[in-house]
Amino acid sequence: MGEPIIEIKAVSYRYDRENVLENINMEVQKGAFIGVVGPNGSGKSTLIKLILGLLKPQKGTVSLFGQTKFKEWDRIGFVSQKANSFNSGFPATVFEVVQSGLVGKLGLFHFMKNHHKQEVMKAIKSVGMENFTKRNIGELSGGQQQRVFIARAIVSNPDILILDEPTVGVDEMNVQSFYDMLEKLNKDRGITLLLVTHDIGTITNKVSHVACLNKTLHFHGEVEEFEKLDTDDLSGMYNHDVHLLSHEHSSRGEGEQL
Ligand SMILES: Nc1ncnc2c1ncn2[C@@H]1O[C@H](COP(=O)(O)OP(=O)(O)O)[C@@H](O)[C@H]1O
Ligand SMILES: [Mg+2]
Repeated sequence: MGEPIIEIKAVSYRYDRENVLENINMEVQKGAFIGVVGPNGSGKSTLIKLILGLLKPQKGTVSLFGQTKFKEWDRIGFVSQKANSFNSGFPATVFEVVQSGLVGKLGLFHFMKNHHKQEVMKAIKSVGMENFTKRNIGELSGGQQQRVFIARAIVSNPDILILDEPTVGVDEMNVQSFYDMLEKLNKDRGITLLLVTHDIGTITNKVSHVACLNKTLHFHGEVEEFEKLDTDDLSGMYNHDVHLLSHEHSSRGEGEQL
């Protein structure tokens, strides 16, 4: 195994007095598909912001590609849960939205060359949206919009794609095919994936690794090891009834819960 893409060492973070993350140690290796799960308020989005350099830990270090002062942000794609908020009048097509993901690489006023157009089409295809290239983004369902945002995030060929609860706003019926699409990105395009989700039940047959977060990291390892844990182990980790997780899973579609 080479150098991890993400290495989090002894990281603690607090917004005010109390730590929301405590002594987190975690690695993401190239090629992994890691699912980060935990109840609401457990620090998942905070952890993502620390990885993305939007917050600085009070303790510990975050290294990306072996560097603590990482700057090549186009090597990291990010899709948040709030991305899918375009109204139906928004004047941009699927192609244009995905193309905008190349701005960092091309500069704003550089013309797209043919091979750039091909990259845009390739990204659109890998999220299964090739029949919608000319459609206005606002005319798509929440799940389709999320696919387009994933295409925009991967068009510049990042090494890793980070997704923070991307299935919020995706119809329950389409959630499984959304995860199938992520699995394909990981397997076929070789993109390392870090997926934050409530949806632990649905992803255990997709991910290679699981991290269970609730202020501290209660479990971090291969999915096979995770599946060996029984309910008692998990309850102990979470310090309350673990059925919360499966409950949140089954109440998907209500508000923000998945
Ligand atoms: N900007 C902020 N200022 C103060 N507290 C915050 C802020 N953002 C999040 N928190 C608190 O930090 C904790 C972790 O939040 P968050 O990382 O968003 O959790 P999750 O994504 O798992 O729901 C929560 O108690 C939340 O209220
Ligand atoms: Mg969150």
